[in-house]
Parts: sequence; C-alpha cells; structure tokens
Amino acid sequence: MGKRVIIDTDPGVDDALALLLAFKSYELHVEAITTVNGNVAVDQATRNAALLLELLDPSPRPILAMGSVRAARKRPIRTQSVHGPDGLGGLYRFKNRDGSPRYPDATLPVQIFDATEVFFDLLKRYPDEMSLIMLGPLTNLAEALKKDPRRVKGLREVVIMGGAIGVPGNITPGAEFNIFMDPQAAHRVFHSGLPMTLVPLDVTERVCLESEEIKALARIMEEPLGGFVRDITGRSIAYTREARGMSAIYLHDPLAVGVAIDPTMVKSADLHVEVETSRGITYGMIIADTRAISNSLKPPNLDVALEVESELFLTFFKERLCQRSW
Ligand code: RIB
Ligand code: CA
Repeated sequence: MGKRVIIDTDPGVDDALALLLAFKSYELHVEAITTVNGNVAVDQATRNAALLLELLDPSPRPILAMGSVRAARKRPIRTQSVHGPDGLGGLYRFKNRDGSPRYPDATLPVQIFDATEVFFDLLKRYPDEMSLIMLGPLTNLAEALKKDPRRVKGLREVVIMGGAIGVPGNITPGAEFNIFMDPQAAHRVFHSGLPMTLVPLDVTERVCLESEEIKALARIMEEPLGGFVRDITGRSIAYTREARGMSAIYLHDPLAVGVAIDPTMVKSADLHVEVETSRGITYGMIIADTRAISNSLKPPNLDVALEVESELFLTFFKERLCQRSW
C-alpha cells in the first residue's frame, strides 16, 4: 500500500486536478480529505470534495471532514474569477441533453467529521506514518496545533503549496493566496517544528498546461472524469488568458501532490522562512533567508522547493490522469 496521506484542500479547480492525481497514483493511499475556507467557503469546498468523490468513486472511500466554519466568517477573498462562484469553474452551467444538470449537487455524507479531530484520530491510529498535503490556507493544521500540539507531532511530513519567494505574489504584489488567506495560521505552522516541505509559486508557476493540452487530455481520459476536467478548467484558462496573456492553467496544487509522490521532481533547500502577519502592503508575504551566509541566526524551518523538472512533472501528470481505474 502507498504512503498514508491526508489531503487538506479548498477545491478549487487546481485542487480538483491534484485530487485526481492523488487517487490515480498507487504511491499514495488517501485516508482523508479535509476541507478549508479558501477558494470558496468551507461548506462549498466540502460539497465540491464530495462531488469529486462521487465521480471518482475510490475504494475504500476516504473520510471526508470539514474545517472550522468559524474561519469562514473571516473576510475571505473570493477567487471567483479563477475558480468560478462554485469553486469548480461554474459546473452548474452544464446540462444534459434532457436539460437536467450534468453535475447534480453531491450528496454529503450523513456525518461530516471535524478536520482537526480527523487529524488527531489518524495520527493516533498510524503514528509516524501519516503525511499531510496542504493545498489551501493552513487554518486547519494551525487549529490542530493550537488545540494540542503534542497530538500533531506524529506527522511524518507536511507538504505545503504556498508562498512566493523570488517571484511576485498572486493575490497581492508580494503574497500568495494560501498564505495571504491566513498568515497567522501559516506563522504558527512554520514555527511548529514539523518536517515541512514548501512548494511555492517559484516552482508551481513553472508547471502549466496549455488549453489545447488540457482538451487533448480530457479526450483521452475515461469518462466521466475527462468531461469533468474539460468542464472545470474552462473558466481558469479564460482568466489566465485575460490576466497573463496565455491560455493555460497553473498546476499549483498538483505539483504539491507530485512532490509528496516523488520529492526528486523538485530541487529544494533548507531555509529559514517567516510570514508577515501585520496589516499593510506586505501582509501575508513570506520571507525566506536565501543569503549564502553560514552564521544565520535563525535555523532552517522549512525545506523549500526552488527548482522543478517542469517537463518531467507535466508528462507524469498527464500519464497518471490518463490511467484507467483498476
Ligand atoms: O496560489 C495558489 C493556491 O491558491 C492554490 O492552492 C489554489 O487552489 C489557491 O487555493
Ligand atoms: Ca488550493
């Protein structure tokens, strides 16, 4: 069996592609999906995760847990322009020939567990075996650390998609969205002493799929997943065309899953990283100490991915998504 993982996510178009990659990869065994307030409010993120599970129908079915609704009361920035009002590219727009919705609302499980309780439960069941892949704001992990840091210590590794070091931010000139949405949580996580790998925009913006590649991929994939990939990505591609002049989609979250599968897909360095938590133009920015000095006063707290084998990852991603379910 593969590496036991929990995927914490705010689906989100690239989150959905990342989840497809995770379930199509024998190296990972997804024990749980936990949702967080980010691209959409946490209740919508949970419905989106449930829809994906209905389409994928993995066996065994992972636990589905929801992050704190309290966080949802924060003044969240909505990334509707990238992910659509529903977080999955406006799936409500698509109809079958008879006019019925192509993607009816998913049926939520009778019991939706609390994300931090699922963290604690799985860490107790599988001490030192659990990996955590963070694809949204770090709110849930910070909550768990606040509740009882001792019960989080058993994590084998944490892979985090977030931050921007040597490249501009994507939600402000300096800040990346996942960190910007909850910098206080990021600060707590970055100082937790957990074994963490950060996958920032520096590498995720170097893995993008052109519109034509996505259409070709969707045609090869088995249904209904091929049609799902085509339907969820249209709006993100249009946004990137308008904002960056390229008809493509960045595979931010899929690369974080790729790093959990095979860390050699990136070249990383142990760095000391801090988060700006005070309000102002630098709010949510991360600062990594990349100076080549030996007597840095602050020891490294994160392993940071700084280079990526882009073509290798893109080929890997497309091959895995085309894999038939067994
Ligand atoms: O900045 C990219 C990150 O923000 C990705 O996780 C994307 O899904 C959004 O949450
Ligand atoms: Ca995300």
